[in-house]
Amino acid sequence: MLDIQRSVASLVLDHSECAPVLQHHRIDYCCRGHMSLDAACWERGLDPVEVARELVDAIARRTGDDGPDPRTLSTPALVGHIVAHHHEYLREALPFVSELAAKVARVHGANEPRLVELHAVVTQLCAALEPHLVDEEERLFPALLARSPERRVLARDLATMLEEHRAVGALLQAMRTAADDFAWPEWACNSYRALFAELEALEGDVLRHVHLENHVLAPRFAEV
Ligand SMILES: [Fe+2]
Ligand SMILES: [Fe+2]
Repeated sequence: MLDIQRSVASLVLDHSECAPVLQHHRIDYCCRGHMSLDAACWERGLDPVEVARELVDAIARRTGDDGPDPRTLSTPALVGHIVAHHHEYLREALPFVSELAAKVARVHGANEPRLVELHAVVTQLCAALEPHLVDEEERLFPALLARSPERRVLARDLATMLEEHRAVGALLQAMRTAADDFAWPEWACNSYRALFAELEALEGDVLRHVHLENHVLAPRFAEV
C-alpha cells in the first residue's frame, strides 16, 4: 500500500503515472505539491485510501515508455527537455485552443453560458503563459545555466517563476470548473468535443511542465 503521508509531488516524482489520477481529482501536485496525499484528499472531500488504491493501480499499469527519470538529467538537458517538449507544445496548442474556444463560445454560448466563461479563462491562460515562456527562455534559464550566476538575481527570478506558476495553477482550476471537468453533453458538435479534449490534454501537459520546474529544476538552486 502507498504511504498516504507522502507529499503528492514526491509521489509524482517517483511515479509519473500518478499525475493523471491526481489531475482527474483536482489535486494540485505542482504549486501545492508539498501537501501529503492524506491532507490533499481531505481538502477535496475525497477518501485518501480510495485515491491511494487508484494510484497503486495506475502504478501497476505502468508501461515504462515515459522516457528517462528527469531527476537523472543534467540541468542543461532538463532545461532542453522543458523547452523542446513543454514550451514548444504550448506554442502550438495555445493559439489553437484559443481560436477553438472562441468559435465554440460564439456558436453555442447563447445556450451554454459556461462556454463564454471558458473562453474568457482560456484567453487569460494564454495571456499568462505566453510571456512566461519567453521570460524563462530569455532570462531565467540562461541565468540558471550561467557559469557564475548572480545569486540575488537568480533567487528573485526563481521566486517570480513560482509566483507565476501559482497564477497559472489558479487559472487551470478555473478552466476545469468552467468546463465542468471537461464533460461534454450528448449533443456536442465535433468542435466542442475537440475543445474539451484539447483543454484537458493541455491541463495535463502544463501540470507536468510546472511540476518539473517546481520540483526538479528549482530545488537544484535552493541554496543560492
Ligand atoms: Fe516553462
Ligand atoms: Fe514555468
